[in-house]
Amino acid sequence: MRVHVADHPLITHKLTVLRDLETPSPVFRELTAELVTLLAYEATRGVRVEPIRIRTPVTETTGARLADPYPLVVPILRAGLGMLEGMTRLLPTAEVGFLGMARNEETLQPTTYAERLPADLRGRQCYVLDPMLATGGSLGAAMDFLFRRGASEVTAICLIAAPEGVAEIERRVADRAVTLVLGAVDERLNEHGYIVPGLGDAGDRLYGTVA
Ligand code: PRP
Ligand code: URA
Repeated sequence: MRVHVADHPLITHKLTVLRDLETPSPVFRELTAELVTLLAYEATRGVRVEPIRIRTPVTETTGARLADPYPLVVPILRAGLGMLEGMTRLLPTAEVGFLGMARNEETLQPTTYAERLPADLRGRQCYVLDPMLATGGSLGAAMDFLFRRGASEVTAICLIAAPEGVAEIERRVADRAVTLVLGAVDERLNEHGYIVPGLGDAGDRLYGTVA
């Protein structure tokens, strides 16, 4: 597994505003989209392209375009949905599949309540979006889903991770082709499974509290 932790002052600056308790939802959403676009630049370094001949006003030349099968972007609902627009800005021809997962706040185990993915993912490069990698239960289950359907590579983009979550993904994926692109790795999880210092509940901060 490859782990890339962003090391850029702009990312740290935007994450600091995101973490701030006083940051309201509209600003939180906008910053989430901006951060994803910045992280996606690194995450898509290995995206498959094919050569294409074009004419410039001056001459003919060979460029590149995304290769078929196109990458599949998979936001984990709810909070991952807040990252989708920032990702598709960079990869407009990518296809999008959805996984709905909710973590039981007592057991910390995820349940999957929605799935809309192609049945056959053989040869596909998949990009999973979830702002928070806490225990790793949700992201690990999402990766299992994609590899079971034949995905060839899975890259996850998370804004904030706990060391415990990174270790759990490493344990689960063994020698599969997995990359984690992270905005920051925080100190630890607290006794409620929240990332410290973190930013709280990402879904609630994006969309409000669910009863
Ligand atoms: C959050 C977050 C991740 C998960 C991380 O979602 O967006 O999906 O928790 O925790 P884990 O690594 O311990 O599994 P949540 O289950 O709160 O659902 P939501 O996005 O609907 O708020
Ligand atoms: N899910 C969140 O939204 N935040 C955390 O800190 C942990 C899990």
